[in-house]
Amino acid sequence: MGSGIAQVFASAGLPCRIYDPLQQSRESVRSRVATGCELLGVDVDDVLSRIEVVDDLRSACDAATLIIEAGPESIAVKHAIFSELSEVAPSTSILASNTSAIPIGTIAEAVANPTRVVGTHFWNPPYLVALVEVVQSSATSPDVVQKTMQILSSAHMVPVHVKVDVPGFVGNRMQHALKREAIALVANGVCSAETVDLVVRHGFGRRLALVGPLEQADLGGTDLTLAIHEILMPDIDSTPVPHPYLVAMVERGDLGAKSGRGFFEWPSGDAQRRRAEINQGLVDQSQDTSSSTVEAGHPTGGPAS
Ligand SMILES: NC(=O)c1ccc[n+]([C@@H]2O[C@H](COP(=O)([O-])OP(=O)(O)OC[C@H]3O[C@@H](n4cnc5c(N)ncnc54)[C@H](O)[C@@H]3O)[C@@H](O)[C@H]2O)c1
Repeated sequence: MGSGIAQVFASAGLPCRIYDPLQQSRESVRSRVATGCELLGVDVDDVLSRIEVVDDLRSACDAATLIIEAGPESIAVKHAIFSELSEVAPSTSILASNTSAIPIGTIAEAVANPTRVVGTHFWNPPYLVALVEVVQSSATSPDVVQKTMQILSSAHMVPVHVKVDVPGFVGNRMQHALKREAIALVANGVCSAETVDLVVRHGFGRRLALVGPLEQADLGGTDLTLAIHEILMPDIDSTPVPHPYLVAMVERGDLGAKSGRGFFEWPSGDAQRRRAEINQGLVDQSQDTSSSTVEAGHPTGGPAS
């Protein structure tokens, strides 16, 4: 994620530095950025000219306006990184974490001044998926949130303000609510895994990039949504723990593409081919100006509240 995030800023003309303690990771930054630039058809050398790879955290932070941590998803590692950042970063730098799940307030415990710690949750790959959830902990200063959103907008991203530091923020909560029901449908024999994915991809998924669930509810009528919820809500899966079907899969080693079998069979090479297809689809989608126009402005001029 770190090299993809650097690519986003460098592509927008903003100079950045990357620090990684592993030499192998530092050495692979250029080729990873080059792969992303080639996919988008942008000038690799131009983008790379604004990315400097360094081998110590202090020089990476020197004069930085915004520092984004994208280290391993471990509280201990994040605490170690933020504790060091608290000492070596300029006092005016915003300290951001790309964590997927760790509360921002927990990460900020390692920092002397937690008002400058904010979540910046990018999606993978950041140069193809524009959303960034800007997560405010109970300690984050509103100015830090606003400045972070401004910087992300200037890098052509789509920042959204998450006002409460809830696990999974907004995107992953919705994504995993859908996954919970998808797994329950398969576990209960309602349909196959293939059918679940076809229903999403060829059904409501086709609309999702153009109209979100709440605008869709308004278009259909909130009374219709209520009528449907009265029937569905008692029946939809609400298990408060991971579904036993998923737990059993993991216990028997059906880990998906990396083990050759998950909900689907994964012969060698298939995962790489699918990832390439998905990335190409995202490139095509991001170059389709009609969808970005719909996304840019609410048709009636803004939300009701
Ligand atoms: N991969 C995704 O789809 C995705 C999406 C959104 C958010 N995230 C989050 O982004 C973060 C990074 O995820 P990733 O998939 O890029 O992980 P990764 O394991 O691919 O990369 C982590 C990098 O951190 C480096 N590192 C290790 N210790 C470090 C330290 N002390 N200081 C600085 N760097 C250190 C590693 O060498 C490695 O290059 C995680 O918090 C993850 O949850 C990942």
